[in-house]
Amino acid sequence: MKVFISGNIAPAALQRLEENNISITQWNEDRQITTDELIEACKDQDGFISVGPNKINADFLNASKHLKVIALHSVGFDQVDVEVAKKLNIPVGNTPGVLSAATADTAFLLMLAVSRKAFFGYRKITDGNWVKYEPAQELGIELNGKTLGVFGLGKIGLEMAKKCKAAYNMKVVYHNRSRNEVAEKEIAAEYLSFDELLAQSDVLTVHTALTSETKEKFSMEVFRKMKSNAIFINTARGGIHNEQDLIKALEEKVIWGAGLDVTNPEPMDKNNPLLFMESVAVLPHIGSATEETREAMAGLIVENILAGLNGEKIPYPIY
Ligand code: DGY
Repeated sequence: MKVFISGNIAPAALQRLEENNISITQWNEDRQITTDELIEACKDQDGFISVGPNKINADFLNASKHLKVIALHSVGFDQVDVEVAKKLNIPVGNTPGVLSAATADTAFLLMLAVSRKAFFGYRKITDGNWVKYEPAQELGIELNGKTLGVFGLGKIGLEMAKKCKAAYNMKVVYHNRSRNEVAEKEIAAEYLSFDELLAQSDVLTVHTALTSETKEKFSMEVFRKMKSNAIFINTARGGIHNEQDLIKALEEKVIWGAGLDVTNPEPMDKNNPLLFMESVAVLPHIGSATEETREAMAGLIVENILAGLNGEKIPYPIY
């Protein structure tokens, strides 16, 4: 059996695939593979491990009908045309559950970094602008006892909420399509309408999938409904906020700060104004990037691939 991998995955997973007599071809270039190149690379493969935002769209899927399985190196699957995959009966699997703690850590890190202008302070030193102790500069906002608003309280949102409650005794409010009874019971999370969530949150953290409903949900109109001292955190997908509106909202002090692990587009341009703002912290989509989590993700990928190649039901299907 042959499998194409469009990037790097944990070595232990490669070894397991090889132990199962799978012949691997990997994309090793320093740029994302294009859809045309992907179609070409997968044309005589039995399986495909998709690393990064490869467009698994109708063009790709129709040209790759022979694939026995596609395993995503992510929990998010907004890059997949699920309806077409379903119609063509191509099993597609993801990596749910294993990256919740690491991604929530990243959201927490960004929240704290923004609240204390940490990235700006670091840049001040590296730019050679730290000239004296100045007590009236780089003043942050304390988090203790504040209200955390979670937009999308699933596994990752719940991990983030638990951390905020444990560290800062934050009150947790949330908005979801459906109520999260576990969170309501475990951490007394309070369900609010979307507008109430915006009005009450001191920190608003996004943990929802990118869908047609959530695309650019956070626009100027929405930022205007938030508190002027609110912090916006997005570790989910860059497409959920409108980046130009976010820049404007920060410049015009409609909101106080923002922490982003995801941007639109990715990679972000090095001259993007967000990178030069005091109360902004940006990371290059490293939400789940820990050794432990990458290994766990790769473990689920191997399970999906082996099951798919054997014609069995894959254990972590997206549909
Ligand atoms: C995920 O798992 O969806 C991460 O964002 C990596 O893409």
